[in-house]
Amino acid sequence: MNNKETPSKLKPVILTCAQPTGNLTLGNYLGAIRNWSEMLDDYQCFFGIVDLHAITVPPKPAELRQNVYSCIAQYIACGLDPAKCHQFVQSHVIGHTELAWILTCMTPIGELQRMTQFKDKAAKLGFKVAEDKDSGDVKFSHEKMRAQASINAGLLCYPVLMAADILLYNADLVPVGEDQRQHLELCRDLAGRFNQKYSETFTIPEPYLAKAGARIMSLIEPVRKMSKSDDNERATLYVLDDPNQIKKKIGTAVTDSGSEIKLSKEKPGVSNLLTIHSSLSGISIENLESHFLGKGYGELKAEVTELLVETLKPVRESYQELIKDKSYLDAVLKAGSEAAQKRAFKILSKVQRKIGLPERARN
Ligand code: TYM
Repeated sequence: MNNKETPSKLKPVILTCAQPTGNLTLGNYLGAIRNWSEMLDDYQCFFGIVDLHAITVPPKPAELRQNVYSCIAQYIACGLDPAKCHQFVQSHVIGHTELAWILTCMTPIGELQRMTQFKDKAAKLGFKVAEDKDSGDVKFSHEKMRAQASINAGLLCYPVLMAADILLYNADLVPVGEDQRQHLELCRDLAGRFNQKYSETFTIPEPYLAKAGARIMSLIEPVRKMSKSDDNERATLYVLDDPNQIKKKIGTAVTDSGSEIKLSKEKPGVSNLLTIHSSLSGISIENLESHFLGKGYGELKAEVTELLVETLKPVRESYQELIKDKSYLDAVLKAGSEAAQKRAFKILSKVQRKIGLPERARN
């Protein structure tokens, strides 16, 4: 056995997940999935499709089911070779919600109300969010008296479920985009708190952020992250977009005043395009700035378009084949869930024992 072939039991564990939103965005790809595929040989990898997270915004049942297939097919098409990692659906593994409940009982409500993503989502639903500067308390008042606009408790408790996803596997490393950093901090706090109260149980997970691409921004409003929930269809590029869509979206991407091509806070549009270029070409931002010296935005957009078309073509083609084969996708998910369940069960049982839940009698 050479050095590369470390037995998988000794390899550190990575765990990360994404919501089954149907179409993966370029942000999901560059900030997350592409990096996961580069870690397959050196880690024991668990990749979850978190359908229970997806129901915090009530989905259409048939759409959710189809999105899970679409998501696994895109994962594999993006390079997550099922022979080298465990890919599973969150609701197929017993333990995520069980551990989430245990951790919920250790989490002050205030900590959850202060989560940036929760405040953003609450604000989107029409709630006015005010934070008391001295106490840090968060108060919500309903601005628009719309009957349908209410925040469900799932949206508030979402980060605890995410912490459970990670701790259930005692993951060493969690590769995520920048937007998940705060959730990961909560996870680390909860793990530490549990260990202190009940003795060493959880590994404190480390975040792993991509060097380039950890935050891909909207193509139309580059001060906001690229997201599937954006109302403007030109703002978000999808992994499955065809060359025409890519050309149109990059063509209409917002640039900035002036003509200089450089990374700067004053130039969020150009900076975003440079970041996308750099993550796809592997050329450092510094070298790209020299390369584009004296050139115009048109040239930058043309190169970004070409790189995207080239990179995403094989992904799209492979996806089109994979999505036709539901029984293969089912088999991948079944094997992934079995491996995940094996690991999750051990850790859940240990946690239940430590907090005093009575063990089931064996025959
Ligand atoms: P989700 O489904 O929104 O995104 C999946 C992954 O894609 C990254 N990402 C981005 N990276 C760079 N730029 C962007 N514009 C961008 N948009 C998304 C996210 O950071 C993430 O890594 N709560 C999580 C899912 C989750 C999870 C977990 C992640 C549930 N449990 C346990 C890690 C570990 C979420 O909604 O990601």
